[in-house]
Amino acid sequence: MDEAVGQILYSREVIEERVKELAAQVMSVYREKPLTVAVVLRGGFIFAADLVRHLGQQCDIVFVRASSYGDGRRPKGAATIELPADVTWKGRHVLVVEDIIDTGRSMKALVAAIAKKGAASVRVCAFLDKPARREVEIDVEFTGFAIEGSPFVVGYGLDYAGRHRNLPFIGTLKPAAKRKPAPKKTARKR
Ligand code: IMP
Ligand code: MG
Repeated sequence: MDEAVGQILYSREVIEERVKELAAQVMSVYREKPLTVAVVLRGGFIFAADLVRHLGQQCDIVFVRASSYGDGRRPKGAATIELPADVTWKGRHVLVVEDIIDTGRSMKALVAAIAKKGAASVRVCAFLDKPARREVEIDVEFTGFAIEGSPFVVGYGLDYAGRHRNLPFIGTLKPAAKRKPAPKKTARKR
């Protein structure tokens, strides 16, 4: 086990079960509709890979980014959105798949940018949510788990300073791991 991890919040088995349930919920909404799954890089890649393999319907899969500028723990201010230039959004039902919703700022900006491109609908599927940290209002149609309070978590795609994404479970980061020198305060993809 990774020495930076304190408590395991969601085991590999618990995650697998929940992803299957979420896929069933998602399918019941999109059946037969032209679906585009927009995976938010980098954190959303593992959750999305699991989710789409349980979707029993056709979908396009594209990759988007929402970058914020911070110290690796706290996203701050406005988000910068990157949408691929070669994707047709018009008329598509878009499901944005993300690891975690924190303040909600990145997702709000991302949903607005995709809607502006003429998508028929835009819904959000986040594996984790920290409602206590919300700063802007957004609808999250599909949520794996709502975390109480605001612990910083890693694993299953989620990182701290670029590390721990590949852990097969989700756990809290030990305070000692956070105290290690923070990466330089430059623009960083989260
Ligand atoms: P928001 O714009 O504040 O909602 O930021 C959401 C983004 O912050 C997520 O996509 C993550 O990249 C990052 N983030 C927020 N909380 C955590 C956490 O507990 N662990 C790892 N990344 C997090
Ligand atoms: Mg992220």
